[in-house]
Amino acid sequence: MHITSTELGFAARVERLTKHYGTGEGTVRALDGVSVGIRAGEFTAIMGPSGSGKSTLMHIMAGLDAPTSGRAWLGDTDITDLSDGELTVLRRRRVGFVFQSFNLIPTLDVEGNILLPFELDGRRPAGMERARIDRLIDALGLRPRLRHRPHQLSGGQQQRVAIARALAGAPDLVFADEPTGNLDSRTGREVLQLLQEASREHGQSIAMVTHDPIAAAFADRVLYLGDGRIVADHRGASAEEISAYMLAAELDGARAGTAPTGPDAAGAAGAAATPDAQVRA
Ligand SMILES: Nc1ncnc2c1ncn2[C@@H]1O[C@H](COP(=O)(O)OP(=O)(O)OP(=O)(O)O)[C@@H](O)[C@H]1O
Ligand SMILES: [Mg+2]
Repeated sequence: MHITSTELGFAARVERLTKHYGTGEGTVRALDGVSVGIRAGEFTAIMGPSGSGKSTLMHIMAGLDAPTSGRAWLGDTDITDLSDGELTVLRRRRVGFVFQSFNLIPTLDVEGNILLPFELDGRRPAGMERARIDRLIDALGLRPRLRHRPHQLSGGQQQRVAIARALAGAPDLVFADEPTGNLDSRTGREVLQLLQEASREHGQSIAMVTHDPIAAAFADRVLYLGDGRIVADHRGASAEEISAYMLAAELDGARAGTAPTGPDAAGAAGAAATPDAQVRA
């Protein structure tokens, strides 16, 4: 019997994914055989050292980039061989993406950027949708900036516009690449609460890259990448447990001269959090 992603409860899933850049001796293995699923309705954090492949993984999962080998599914749809046109439609309807570099449209003002997903879909938000967008604008403190263009905004304000845009259409699946990286702690907390609420109250699936253990503790599950591989998968970890794991992994990596991999890596900080390896099988 063929088992599909949604039967397993995955909003997105990849299997034996590799992504290589360049050829010969200079080849960079950004992803080196990743099999993992983002569970439907869950808030998943993705952590790992700079250059470990976090953004690459999210881009391929969202259909924004193609793998070197392996397959990717969005819900039930195998997106590995879809055309650009098919991918664009699927993404527009189902996926929100907060880019590490924001990717706002410079010629549109804040409101235009937030409403872009609707514009591209050829419609205007109505009723409940408009109310949700208004709530997002207020929660993210963007009301006084609606007529400003991106170059007139601070980095943190641009980041908040990118978050509002990703959540505006209430997509099934939201990818957020370090969405609190430019925010002060109070605004960061607002954003994390919005993401948590999106999954807990609205059943949306969230995948968030972060370097911050406090941010990751808002998630139901934390995946750790190291050198293009998943090295650990924990559920319900506190900020202290996440910090302890990261510190132990860094020390291990420094001792071995590489990032930690293999079965011991998941237990590097003791049994503080429950490893959850079966989804990676
Ligand atoms: N277009 C590209 N061409 C060549 N190498 C690339 C390209 N994009 C990414 N890489 C390499 O792939 C690896 C993974 O990059 P990626 O951006 O996924 O890391 P990351 O975990 O998101 O890091 P950070 O925390 O710094 O954002 C890095 O070694 C990076 O240099
Ligand atoms: Mg990145």
